[in-house]
Amino acid sequence: MAYKEYTPKDYSQLKGLVGITDEQILAHLDLYKGYVRRVNSMLKTLQELDPGSQAWQEERRRLGWEFNGMRLHEVYFDQLMKGSGGASGKQKITSVLSPVFKNFDEWVKELKSAAVIPGIGWVAGYLDKLTGQMITVWVNEHDQGHLAGLQLVFILDVFEHAYGRYLPFTERKKYVEDYFENVNWDIVAQRLG
Ligand SMILES: [Fe+2]
Repeated sequence: MAYKEYTPKDYSQLKGLVGITDEQILAHLDLYKGYVRRVNSMLKTLQELDPGSQAWQEERRRLGWEFNGMRLHEVYFDQLMKGSGGASGKQKITSVLSPVFKNFDEWVKELKSAAVIPGIGWVAGYLDKLTGQMITVWVNEHDQGHLAGLQLVFILDVFEHAYGRYLPFTERKKYVEDYFENVNWDIVAQRLG
């Protein structure tokens, strides 16, 4: 028995985004590929190690961090498009926002507010299919704070590497505003099911 290997998804079409430079995207994609490599390597190592050994336990413990690092980046890059778009997607999303949110803009405003919570991690918009309502959460790093069993609909990376540090893009608030200028709302709406 062997795990199937994960292949990095191709995001070479992501160029010329509003406010987010091609260099920034390329550096971010390199980082994403690192997560894919480490997930593949960890899954292989886990099969080779003695189950229950300390090394096996440590790898097993770390897997969720690396795997979510890979998958959340895919959700993040999947929903990007140059210049934003998706009027029908916005309409579909709006249909699940009431009565928690007055309208689409109020939901986006909440996501933006959550995106400047101090820390490194992600802002996630989930749909709870049991109640039909959208819930916004802060995900610390890649793995703490996810809502079990809910459908992940929207994600925003607010690790420092997403907006600053070694790149010319240093203001988190500006990055958040710019990110929303590049969202394909049709893709986001598809995740509602
Ligand atoms: Fe990232």
